This record gives sequence, structure tokens and C-alpha cells, in this order.
Amino acid sequence: MNSDCRVTDVLIIGGGIAGGSAALKLAEAGYRVTLVTKAREPYESNTYYAQGGIIHRGPEDSADLLVRDLVAAGAELNNPQAVRILAEDGPRLLKQVLIDELGVPFARRADRSLDFTREAAHSTERILFVGDATGKAIEEKLVERLAEHPNICFLTGHTAVDLLTPAHHSTNPLHIYEPLSCIGAYIFDQHSRNVQSCIAKATILATGGLGQIYLNTTNPAGARGDGLAMAHRAGARIINAEYVQFHPTAFHHQQAPVFLISEALRGEGAKLLNDAGEPFMHKYAPEWKELAPRDVVARAIHHEMLLRNVDHVYLDLASNMPADKIKERFPTIYEKCLAYDVDITREMIPVVPAAHYFCGGIWVDEWGRTSIRNLYAAGEVSCTGVHGANRLGSSSLLEGLVWGNRAADHIIPRLPNMEHFDIRAVPLWDDSGLHETADPALISQDMTTIKNIMWNYVGLVRTTHRLERAIGDLRSLSLEIDKFYRRVKLTDGLIGLRNCLQAATIVTDAAWANKVSRGCHYRES
Ligand code: SIN
Repeated sequence: MNSDCRVTDVLIIGGGIAGGSAALKLAEAGYRVTLVTKAREPYESNTYYAQGGIIHRGPEDSADLLVRDLVAAGAELNNPQAVRILAEDGPRLLKQVLIDELGVPFARRADRSLDFTREAAHSTERILFVGDATGKAIEEKLVERLAEHPNICFLTGHTAVDLLTPAHHSTNPLHIYEPLSCIGAYIFDQHSRNVQSCIAKATILATGGLGQIYLNTTNPAGARGDGLAMAHRAGARIINAEYVQFHPTAFHHQQAPVFLISEALRGEGAKLLNDAGEPFMHKYAPEWKELAPRDVVARAIHHEMLLRNVDHVYLDLASNMPADKIKERFPTIYEKCLAYDVDITREMIPVVPAAHYFCGGIWVDEWGRTSIRNLYAAGEVSCTGVHGANRLGSSSLLEGLVWGNRAADHIIPRLPNMEHFDIRAVPLWDDSGLHETADPALISQDMTTIKNIMWNYVGLVRTTHRLERAIGDLRSLSLEIDKFYRRVKLTDGLIGLRNCLQAATIVTDAAWANKVSRGCHYRES
């Protein structure tokens, strides 16, 4: 990292829609931004893999109607102020940033007007999409702009290790008496294997979710709770961590990695069937059936699988949409399934629920401020309260866009009066006594253990016994991983393992403490 990038106005960790849109706004306002991502490819982020779409305002729609749907899906645990901000400001920002500034090629009808689709628990058509790869289209446009901006130092292959707070990291011990504040982060360069401090007047965490703590997840490899764990170690307030959303339909195949089968298929008429070819959603959600909120559909599938002693159910699109329309509307899903010999224009798709979205996170206010001074968070790593106890589909890209912009809006007028912390008072990263490198086999085995604990004991249906077992198992693993972490030289994998373990512990402790079933946190006992 060159010295220009090491001392910057704003450090942003994560390059999806939340971090990327904040970076663009700050850079356009003339400030210097260092944007780091641990990914090797600049576009690699949760945003890139979002299939379904992004909420806009449909022809028969209003902010009030969207508020109603968000709150109904969120089991009324939503933060009213945050929901109102999203519903009122979201469509305006979407048009301004994604359509007018970035030119994202959203689907249009023959008359060139925007085409809208519908998803579960939405009472009207209001979702913009780009085939079945909406996030990819957005991220590619965003990265194009980030990469060429002269005020942005965009570093791939750089993993944030820890947030810097004078209370923890200053060479002046008296800083312990000051309120917690963030002055940047230690960053690990995967290429040189060095750790350097990056000093910033403000820091935005936009690292995405934590699906990788579960055995089955729709999330990419990078979704390992890095931001959540770092914020937790720094002392930030974390809320709603028990609310992990399981997507009802992930592709189920012995040889295939788990991948998302978008809710948009059900929005376009696909039906869920059990192994006997019978529809079952009418038994669990007579009013909404396949279009019930995700937690309801995911538990219905889980229940049906237990009832019939099978390990998956089916999604039938072929009977409800002509083959040529399927190929045009869902090209990515069509190709991915075909690679495993499932032709979705003729056959039913085997599906199971999988961990998909973290509705909790680092507490933030309406401007993305966390409980630590000069530390902001936006997107899935944060908890604005928009999603309550369960997220409405296609709301997360919009939330990332809105809070990425709001964090930038809050920071911009304050920057001229903010000072850098003296970099000389930040201790150098000291790993001089460490020679051993982390054995990837050990990391992989520990990751598998965490994933199994979370899947089996902290999954869709939770009980006191399972949660207690998970807490015990995670605690003993933590002793081992802590020792391991202190003994060997850093790698990205080791950083991820430690963060995954802490994220898993945060989720499990919250799930254990909350005995009330609500939204996607479901307690059987
Ligand atoms: C999907 O396409 O089903 C996922 C979209 C989302 O989670 O918002």
C-alpha cells in the first residue's frame, strides 16, 4: 500500500453496492478514499451474486404500500424510521445513481418503459431486474467507475484484520480513557503478506454477510462475517443477530455446490412440489402459498421434508412458463442447472433451503453511524432495522445503496473539520517471533466444524438443547483457534476462520438468549 493510500480521508472496507456507492459519492465530492477488498477480483462481492432484483416503485405502488410489505415480512420488528427512509428515498436514489449515473441496463418492455417483476410477500410488481443476474449488472457498472476514479485507491487482495481504535492500539496508554473511536484499520496484503495500518478520518464497514458460517449457503466464499467480527472486537453494539434468513430454494444436487434458485421463479409462477409431485404450500400458507414470506416457505419445505423423510423438494417452472421464455428470463439458472443435467425447461428443479441473509448486524442509525465514533457501516454487515425479523426479497441491494449514500452524506460536511490520528502513535504490526505458516488443512477442518455446528444446531429450527450444544462446541473450538491464531503467521484464510468463529458465536449466543419465535428465528423449545 503506498503512502497516499495509507493515510486517507475515508477508508471503506468492502466493494459491493454499499461500499462502492459510498466511495463514489465521497470521491465525487473531492475526498480521498481507500477502498479495500479481500477479493482478488474487484467485482467479487455479495452484490455481484444477487439474482432476483432491486425494489423500485411499481406502477400500482406507493411508499406506504412498500412500508406495509416490509413490516409484514419483517414480523413487525422493523425500525419504523429506517423503513420509511428506504421506502421514500430508495426509488429516488435508484433512479439517480443506478439508472441515470451508472446506466444499469434494467429490463424494459417493448415501449422502453421499465419492466417490473414480483417476488414473494410483495403485494405488487415493483422489482427491477437484469435477467437473473441483476447484481452482476450493477456491480460491473459500479466497479468500472470506481476503478477509473482518480480520488479512489482501490485495493484488491487486501484483507482488513482489525479496526484501529486508540483505546486498543495507541502507543499512548492514556487513550484508554477516551470514548471509543475508529481511526482506520490494520490491513493484510495477501501478495506481500505484510500488515500495515491504514489511517482514516472516517471508516465505513461494508463487508457483507456471514452465510459461510453455515454448511449450506447461497452466499459466495467471502461472506464470512469479517466486518461483524471486527466491529465486535472493537466494542461496537450488535443487534438482532439471531435473525439469519434461510432462502427456501437452493439447488440440491450431490455433485453441485449449493447455488441460489431465485425467488423470481416463484414470482413468475413456479410451484413447489413434494417428492410425490403434490403441491404443499396451501397447507402452510393458504393465502400466499408459494409467495408467502421466506421464513414461512423455508419452514414449510423443512417440515414437508421431515414428514416425507426426504432431503429435498422440487420447484416446477416448466409447467408454468414456455421453454423459450425460461431461457430468456432465467439464463444463468438455466445454464447452471443444465451443467448438472437438470433441464429446467422440461424438468423440476430439486431444491432445499440454505442460509442466505443476515438480518441483524452492527447497529447503525439513520446515517449509518455505529456506536463507535467515526465508524460507519452499510449494507448486510449493518443493522438499520429495515428488515426486522425477516427480510423482504430484493430489499438488500436498495438498503445498501441508500445507506452507502447516507453514510457519505453524513461524512462529507464533517471531513474538513476532522483530523487524522498520528500514524506514528499506532504500533507497527509485530509478527517477528512467528515463523510457522497456517496449515490450510487445519483451517479447512475447523471451518467444516463451524459450518456443521451452525447448520445442525443453529439452523432453521432451534431448540435450547441444540443451542447449548452449539455454544459448548464453539467455545472449545475458540480456545484452539485462538492459540492457533497467536502461533502462526497471518493468511487470509486464518483471518477468515477467526472471524467465522466469532460471527458464529455472536449468532448462537443471540439465538440462545431469545426464546421467542419471530420471523426467521424459530424456536421449537
Ligand atoms: C432471490 O433472487 O431470490 C434473492 C433475492 C434476494 O435475496 O433479495
